[in-house]
Amino acid sequence: MIKKKNLYHPSSTFKKNAWVKSKDVYKDAEKDPVKFWEQLAKDIHWKKKWRKAFEHKPPYFKWFLGGKLNFSENCLDKNIERLRNKVALIWEPEPADERPRYFTYYELYREVNKFANGLKKIGVKKGDRVGIYLPMVPEAVIAMLACTRIGAIHSVVFSAYSPQALQVRLQDTKEKVLITADGYYRAGNIINLKGNADEAVKDTKVKKMIVVKRAGNEVKMKKGRDIWWEDAMKVKDNFCKPEEMDSEDPLFILYTSGSTGKPKGIVHACGGYTVQAKYTGKWIFDIKDNDVFWSMSDIGWITGHTYSVYSPLLNGGTFVLFEGAPNWPSPDRWCQIIEKYGVTIFYTAPTAIRMFQKYGDDFIKKHDLSTLRILGSVGEPIDKGSWEWYFEKVGKKRCPIVDTWWQTETGGILLSSLPGVGPAKPAFAGRPFPGIKFDILNSEGKSCKAEEKGDLVILPPFSPGMLRGVYKNPQRYKKTYWSDFGEKTYFTSDIAYKDKNSLIRIVGRSDDMIKVAGHRVSTGEIEDTVSKSSSVLECAVIGIPDEIKGEVPAVFVVLKKKENQIEKVVIEAIKKGIGPIALPKKIYTVKDLPKTRSGKIMRRILRKIFTGEELGDLSTLANPESVKELKKILK
Ligand code: PRX
Repeated sequence: MIKKKNLYHPSSTFKKNAWVKSKDVYKDAEKDPVKFWEQLAKDIHWKKKWRKAFEHKPPYFKWFLGGKLNFSENCLDKNIERLRNKVALIWEPEPADERPRYFTYYELYREVNKFANGLKKIGVKKGDRVGIYLPMVPEAVIAMLACTRIGAIHSVVFSAYSPQALQVRLQDTKEKVLITADGYYRAGNIINLKGNADEAVKDTKVKKMIVVKRAGNEVKMKKGRDIWWEDAMKVKDNFCKPEEMDSEDPLFILYTSGSTGKPKGIVHACGGYTVQAKYTGKWIFDIKDNDVFWSMSDIGWITGHTYSVYSPLLNGGTFVLFEGAPNWPSPDRWCQIIEKYGVTIFYTAPTAIRMFQKYGDDFIKKHDLSTLRILGSVGEPIDKGSWEWYFEKVGKKRCPIVDTWWQTETGGILLSSLPGVGPAKPAFAGRPFPGIKFDILNSEGKSCKAEEKGDLVILPPFSPGMLRGVYKNPQRYKKTYWSDFGEKTYFTSDIAYKDKNSLIRIVGRSDDMIKVAGHRVSTGEIEDTVSKSSSVLECAVIGIPDEIKGEVPAVFVVLKKKENQIEKVVIEAIKKGIGPIALPKKIYTVKDLPKTRSGKIMRRILRKIFTGEELGDLSTLANPESVKELKKILK
């Protein structure tokens, strides 16, 4: 990489070999974004070509109307024509002495076909939802692909979510089938996943549970309901004909936190998602046949769908799936994995980068990381210091860094400089992906000037892979994304600004969502959970800065009755209601919370008192004495 002033440009050798090396691609795409995406879509295997590329009936839009395809066919059948015995998936288990598992494209194809028939055998049909509550094991990939093969809609739930969190999602989507495992390893312990699943399926429509044997822990199998994975795989036919799907049929649902308590089921469509997942991966990570791609994200998140699994497959790449934590059993486990498999593209979150940095550079020096050629960052803003450390110590000043901005809702990366074009600027995501129109708006809805912060929005024609709705909740879809600036402007809920070269920097969220270690956590959801405790009268949650995780929750509670063990009560409630990712760093008991006259809790004030900022205008506050108490406690 060549550094000029504050910008980093790709070297001529990198540029020479990159899929995209010229700025011209932006100009071409800008002229006619729909035509641009149509060009890319030609590279997908369609059973029937679309008749119309884009349709906009605000706030809804569609892509590649009338087109027919099958997602798993694009990931597998198309690749085995050329890459039959190439390794598609390398699975690295957490216990370092356990053997990895390798799947060639053909082996993956065969397993997916069998499991697809297994699902059919228990009655799963096109359009049915299937719950997947699995750790990072190859069966998770097989299950996801098998669903797409028969046109079932998968809804993956992060395996560290609590039974209650899984139950809420299962109830919303009304799945009849849940795929889970006996247990899995996390930092040396075995987590009893089946126990969680058993608890979660009470009061749901789940009739069949398929259980992968992973950790060998003892589980109870319910007769008539539970089936071992290997039994589900006992099918007569090793081939399952891929279902012909309409471009706009749902491909999967993935739940994400919303401002209010309940998570929302984000729906993605078959055609547009396939095109976008393939091309954003191909151009932003420059995926080639001999690349080994490792995205650290769990399959329970959107990054785990699009880049840990799907984009590498759509591009015929090899990817690593790692079961454990990157710092277990030693802080350099992640370096060992890169070295062991010759990882060429590494994708992680700023939280992990800050954690690696904390362990010191000696760990890195012990390992050969020379195979790396591209580094990626995702999920939260990366600060300049961490960016530079990543660039110098991990990438040895050779590897371009792609700071990729996107959301569960966008389905794929929509903002990131392309590595062969550049430039990269520390802490800046950079340029919109070709063909995507972003704007940053001020409070009057006008475009901000350079360096002026405002609301980040996406304008028509949006992108093929963006959400098509919130599952069975059109009101919420409209209100969350299309009400702030009208039905033709998608509001990301992020604050951003552009520099004078039009490179975009993401500042943070504008709503009550916080990013804990890059994961989206809703303060409202934590509040709902804590408020259910019998000793809690009311509760407010804010995000406070954390050196490693970026942000973490702080909980303020007003008690209904005396409670000597409030910390324990709050922690148990959150563990049960959501899971360990939402655990707070601080818990404060207060007499009152700052409120408006209409009774709304003013979290903004709590945040400001916490950080010691000027409080500004307090005239709307109904109970100024609450501020005095808080100032005393937080001093
Ligand atoms: O606030 C932005 C932040 O993560 C949000 C989306 O969260 P989620 O749906 O969980 O998806 C995360 C992984 C794609 C965004 O609204 N975010 C994501 N990427 C970045 C980011 N903030 C700054 N820089 C990024 N590269």
